[in-house]
Amino acid sequence: MSERQRQKPAASAQTKDNLGLSVGTYPLLRPRRNRTDAWVRGMVAEARLTVSDLIWPIFLREDDNPAFEIVSMPGISRLTIEEAVQAARQAADLGIPALAVFPCIGEDRKNPDCTEAVNPDNLVCRAVSAIKKAVPQIGIICDVALDPFNANGHDGLVHDGRVLNDETIAILCQQAIVQARAGCDIIAPSDMMDGRVGAIRCALDQAELQDVKICSYAAKYASAFYGPFRDAVGSGGKLVGDKQTYQMNPANSDEALREVAMDLSEGADMVMVKPGMPYLDVLQRIKERFSVPTFAYQVSGEYAMIEAAASNGWLDGEKAMMESLICFKRSGADAIFTYFAPRIAERLQNSSL
Ligand code: PBG
Repeated sequence: MSERQRQKPAASAQTKDNLGLSVGTYPLLRPRRNRTDAWVRGMVAEARLTVSDLIWPIFLREDDNPAFEIVSMPGISRLTIEEAVQAARQAADLGIPALAVFPCIGEDRKNPDCTEAVNPDNLVCRAVSAIKKAVPQIGIICDVALDPFNANGHDGLVHDGRVLNDETIAILCQQAIVQARAGCDIIAPSDMMDGRVGAIRCALDQAELQDVKICSYAAKYASAFYGPFRDAVGSGGKLVGDKQTYQMNPANSDEALREVAMDLSEGADMVMVKPGMPYLDVLQRIKERFSVPTFAYQVSGEYAMIEAAASNGWLDGEKAMMESLICFKRSGADAIFTYFAPRIAERLQNSSL
């Protein structure tokens, strides 16, 4: 059979769409026409990735802690406050709107009461005020959760093997206030205690910090993809048990909508889905249902997977990185936390996806 014969229109080249309208089909329609060249592909692209979509998470260390790479996150190391200020300058030069800061504190400062979390002079607070002073135009996001400060690696206070909800919230409110007073712009509760967003909002307002925003980790799943992060903040080896009594079951997405609805009614300004790529369906449902600023977190394990495969030569790391980010945009993300942020920003300066 010749090429021409094979391409002959089927008997009913005209079909009906679900509104009953006649629509053409192949060979009248050829979707490949819009893919012939880069210029047309770019022109008809539905989703766009820009530098203003990027949030760069960085890890902090005390000056006297040694600077070694985080083995499970190749290319990423913990930064001293001075290095974090340099990173903030780099981010601002690249047009990255915000940094998220995560501390790795000395073991001697961790205890079951998590007292270091509310110390106004702790590593996070000192870093935030140094960054704000040197690079005032950059947004700073601080995690609110107790795990980097907790002797047992949990996000909340633990009593008799149970993670306490309301007692934890009281500390989280103080943690939010010390961070906000240090200059943090967005408080990001990642602890998944019930009711913490409302309590933190009240606490901030009472402290006359009403412009400080809350980005709630509303749909945060109990995920294996956080492993490298826990290495980075030094909480992984310490974790007793797992986080399934407070983080969500990966099987659920209706529950994510409920979590988001609650957090919005408690005063969240933005909501987040985490991890990212395995949960794009959840992201899409949330964005469609609530039409509020919705962020995704491409977590440490997602970064590690791409980097590990790339370093083995099993995939093109740069392409996989860019593809993973445009997928977040297609699914409805307004911004993405990603460890690739500076690399992506550099690439975007030259071209756009
Ligand atoms: C702490 C927190 C975690 C992450 C962000 N904040 C880990 C966890 O909940 O165990 C994960 C981020 C990442 O994996 O990149 N509550």
